[in-house]
Amino acid sequence: MTNSKTGSNHGVNTRLAHTGNDPRSFYGFVNPPVVHASTVLFPDAETIESRNQPYTYGTYGTPTTDALNKAMDALEGSAGTVAVPSGLAAITLPFMAALSAGDHLLVVDSVYTPTRNLCHGMLARFGIETTYYDPAIGADIEKLMRPNTKLVHTEAPGSNTFEMQDIPAIAEVAHAHGALVSMDNTWATPLFFKPLDHGVDISIHAATKYPAGHSDVLIGTVSANETAWPALWKTFTMMGICAAPDDSYMTLRGLRTMGVRLERHQKSALEIAKTLESVPGVARVLHPALESFPGHALWKRDFCGSSGIFSIVLDVADGSQHRAKAHAFLNALEIFGLGYSWGGYESLAVAVNLSDRTIALPPKEGPVIRLQIGLEDCPDLLADIERGLAAAAAA
Ligand SMILES: Cc1ncc(COP(=O)(O)O)c(C=O)c1O
Repeated sequence: MTNSKTGSNHGVNTRLAHTGNDPRSFYGFVNPPVVHASTVLFPDAETIESRNQPYTYGTYGTPTTDALNKAMDALEGSAGTVAVPSGLAAITLPFMAALSAGDHLLVVDSVYTPTRNLCHGMLARFGIETTYYDPAIGADIEKLMRPNTKLVHTEAPGSNTFEMQDIPAIAEVAHAHGALVSMDNTWATPLFFKPLDHGVDISIHAATKYPAGHSDVLIGTVSANETAWPALWKTFTMMGICAAPDDSYMTLRGLRTMGVRLERHQKSALEIAKTLESVPGVARVLHPALESFPGHALWKRDFCGSSGIFSIVLDVADGSQHRAKAHAFLNALEIFGLGYSWGGYESLAVAVNLSDRTIALPPKEGPVIRLQIGLEDCPDLLADIERGLAAAAAA
């Protein structure tokens, strides 16, 4: 069903425009139909017994989810992709596929907080032990590997503080010990980093963010290589956590423009990040594409772009003032919305809570504010941030 116009030698925007569906399969309509389905009919008793037809039941997939999954396969270079109802579900599913009672799991300490909640909540209850590791660990992860370590979960850049990881070095060690490697690749999207080309077995996306792109869809995708795909698919069919048809369609629609949106997110975020490096009131800017950032060399080596989310550390020496200054900053903003998630067309700001960190400790200079730079005009966004900084200074 993949469109013949989309050979891998085409540019990324060409591929984004054409991968995933074949209009000729749908009477020439450019977009695939939104198939709402539980029941799929079989022509006769023999076929229902053999299940020998492309679609058998709604939870296993439809032409709509297939179109999205095939587009993700083309972008990730994966053997198979499944779409699930949220980014968090996309993290849960491969953990369920790879881990059993008595297994050990390694998770980066700068991980998305709900991933940590899953580990010390449900996974601990199921008899799976998690050890958190330093994002800068690289090949030294060898020291943490145990005979029962079955999965090493990575996320680069890290949530909220954007630490980079040496993914190929970690993958080499994990594989030598027979463990799989998963990666939350939401920040980079497959346009700026292709995990499977760097040794990762399972690439996870909160497609809620840049792929869907408009803050109106919750969806996740999990793309696996040949090694990890059979267990992932089996677990997907056992758990029934399939993405809804309208959300799958909206995400495929979002993918078509993801390249041009990301160009803009990247350019504006970098411009704002660079400006903020020398603005009074900002102690540090946490953005992997800045030369001043500790993980910059890894970002430059492995990634081919940066997206629209980074953090600033406000310059507030007095620890007792962190909360008040962060609130003053946020309350003065007029364009940035205050809210979670990111990857949509509009700018957002939140003060981040890093109290769950045990190794990748929070910056000491002041509160950390995460900024999602949307598609608005940069001078307007900078003026808004300066409004926030002035309010924080006056508070
Ligand atoms: C890095 C990362 N991964 C996963 C998720 C979860 O995505 P969702 O909100 O679709 O569950 C988020 C959400 O903010 C995220 O920031």
